[in-house]
Amino acid sequence: MSKQDVILCESLETSLARAIEKSPHDKLFILTDEHTTDLCMPSLKHVSSLKAAEEIIIGAEDTHKTLETLASVWQTLSEKGASRHSLLINVGGGMVTDLGGFAAATFKRGINYINIPTTLLAMVDASVGGKTGINFNGLKNEIGAFAPASCVLIETDFLRSLDSDNFFSGYAEMLKHGLISNTAHWAELLSFPTEQIDYAYLKQLVGQSVQVKEDIVEQDPFEHGIRKALNLGHTVGHAFESLALAEDRHVLHGYAVAWGIVCELYLSHIKAGFPKDKMRQTIQFIKENYGTFIIDCNNYDRLYEYMQHDKKNTAGVINFTLLKEIGNVSINQTANKNEIFEMFDFYRECMGV
Ligand code: GLY
Repeated sequence: MSKQDVILCESLETSLARAIEKSPHDKLFILTDEHTTDLCMPSLKHVSSLKAAEEIIIGAEDTHKTLETLASVWQTLSEKGASRHSLLINVGGGMVTDLGGFAAATFKRGINYINIPTTLLAMVDASVGGKTGINFNGLKNEIGAFAPASCVLIETDFLRSLDSDNFFSGYAEMLKHGLISNTAHWAELLSFPTEQIDYAYLKQLVGQSVQVKEDIVEQDPFEHGIRKALNLGHTVGHAFESLALAEDRHVLHGYAVAWGIVCELYLSHIKAGFPKDKMRQTIQFIKENYGTFIIDCNNYDRLYEYMQHDKKNTAGVINFTLLKEIGNVSINQTANKNEIFEMFDFYRECMGV
């Protein structure tokens, strides 16, 4: 997989003009959603090379990450004369960068694309690393492809208009990057003043966070090994998300990951010796900032079943990424049903459910 250029922008317009210049193309398309077009497109109005671009606007939120939306993007590209040498620019959150990336990866067997993530989750995770796709058959990201953007342009000024829930949703992935990288970065993240955000400092932390992900993706772009480190918190997190979906409870991805981290740090502690004090400090931060996803013992079997169907498993064996220490990752770990049920007991006890 070719390496992506990930740029923490000083001036988005200048960086974008340069990125477009470096990607020779016959036609230019911009994909965005109905919220982002009003909120973020004005920040690009001085880029002269965008004047002739065709804008494609899709519905916002995960409910639109569907085959129908994807087909509508293919349709517009086709009708507006896109060729294999056209360039697509995705401007939006993870839904837009995932779906747009997949549209680009598949249209005429693949065209170049640039990502401009506008949410924290998309900046530190979704838009970086080449995972693209859509939801299908009730399953998240069931269909997709590894296809890196030629360039990812990160403009943290967009974060100034992000609501608190979406801020914390992205911040959970940063916390994960802290846990899998080093103690200093983890400690900085736990002491970040989330009530009074210092945006210059946030930009610096975003840069560090993206670097953690880039370093891992560079070593293992197709997730055969160490890229699984990025799945910390996600085995349980995805089960919480599935339960929330089935019960019509609104849960943002990063919140489910944060609660998943609580569970998986417990497993890390009992199975890999992760230090209790660091587990407690991390859980305290999550409890204070993310509240609690309420479960009771009647949910355990269902959550276990969701985990058995996780696409990260091989031959039905539940796959966890655990930690021996901060920055010391054990991939391809498993746990039996008893341990998993004890993990849920622990979660309920320490989160006060
Ligand atoms: N979101 C985890 C990864 O990109 O591998």
